[in-house]
Amino acid sequence: SKGHLVMKSFSLVPQGDKSLLLINAGMAPLKPYFTGAEIPPRTRVATCQKCIRTGDIENVGKTARHGTFFEMLGNFSFGDYFKHEAIAWSWEFLTKVVGLDPERLYPSVYLEDDEAFEIWNKEVGIPAERIFRFGKEDNFWEHGAGPCGPCSEIYYDRGEKYGCGKPDCTVGCECDRYMEVWNNVFTQFENDGNGNYETLQNKNIDTGMGLERLAVVVQDVDSIFDVDTICSLRNLVCEVAGKEYGKDYQTDVSIRLITDHIRSATFMISDGIMPTNEGRGYVLRRLIRRAARHGRLLGIEGTFLAKLSAEVIQGSKDGYPELEEKKEFIFKVLTNEENQFNKT
Ligand code: SER
Repeated sequence: SKGHLVMKSFSLVPQGDKSLLLINAGMAPLKPYFTGAEIPPRTRVATCQKCIRTGDIENVGKTARHGTFFEMLGNFSFGDYFKHEAIAWSWEFLTKVVGLDPERLYPSVYLEDDEAFEIWNKEVGIPAERIFRFGKEDNFWEHGAGPCGPCSEIYYDRGEKYGCGKPDCTVGCECDRYMEVWNNVFTQFENDGNGNYETLQNKNIDTGMGLERLAVVVQDVDSIFDVDTICSLRNLVCEVAGKEYGKDYQTDVSIRLITDHIRSATFMISDGIMPTNEGRGYVLRRLIRRAARHGRLLGIEGTFLAKLSAEVIQGSKDGYPELEEKKEFIFKVLTNEENQFNKT
């Protein structure tokens, strides 16, 4: 309704960008449009981008919210609309389209960004005490080299039952109560990778909203592993392993880890990545082997990853037809790698 061109998800393999091994955000494949190096097909674009982030891989399985694979929804402006519209529309989308309770939503702004604060306060009408100011760590978005800028996030209060119970627990707390669901990045700078910032010719907007996180909030479930679509995969892992979810912590860690890693591995192979000993191929090899090892810990015998991958494909093929097209190849790569690892 705001005139965006909806583009397909780009490949997980970055094109012409040596600063990244894998696409890790909706904005990553769009970098040339932000910098002005390429002309976008329209100045307003929206995507649902498949993403992989492995920085927190050691936490995957151990917590309710960490995962290596996610789908990121976003709307982007390349020198078109800026703060006023982006903030108003993010609020409109979350409260009117998705229907989240405005009383449970809390915006945050970058420490020095009085302009964003004023927009939230005067234009959207959020009382000053409900708007949080955070520093560079939380409210300045950048990922290595490339376009970046201060950001304004929107948190959803999932209620006391998800809180840590500490007296100072509020927006920004590390616990699971206040969940960031939306990020408005005011992309105005380019980081050269060494911490030097150039001002971009255009002022741009990069928004990001994790589909899985939004689903957690809308479905009011414990974690990304309890969202309906991911839950069906998790249940299959349980079935293959002959285990019940939610009975034993270590068992649950393995179930969640396998559920996450098989999603990443399936999508990576469909984008042409092969398990190897370096670069992104090594990331894939590590994900497959970790999933296989946790299968062993659960007592699964023989190869099992292709069977789980079929469930990933079944659930996501409408949005990503490449999964169905490469199905047999994906199964073969997974099973070969599993066999090789079993031998080792
Ligand atoms: N780039 C920002 C993020 O990943 C917003 O899309 O959160």
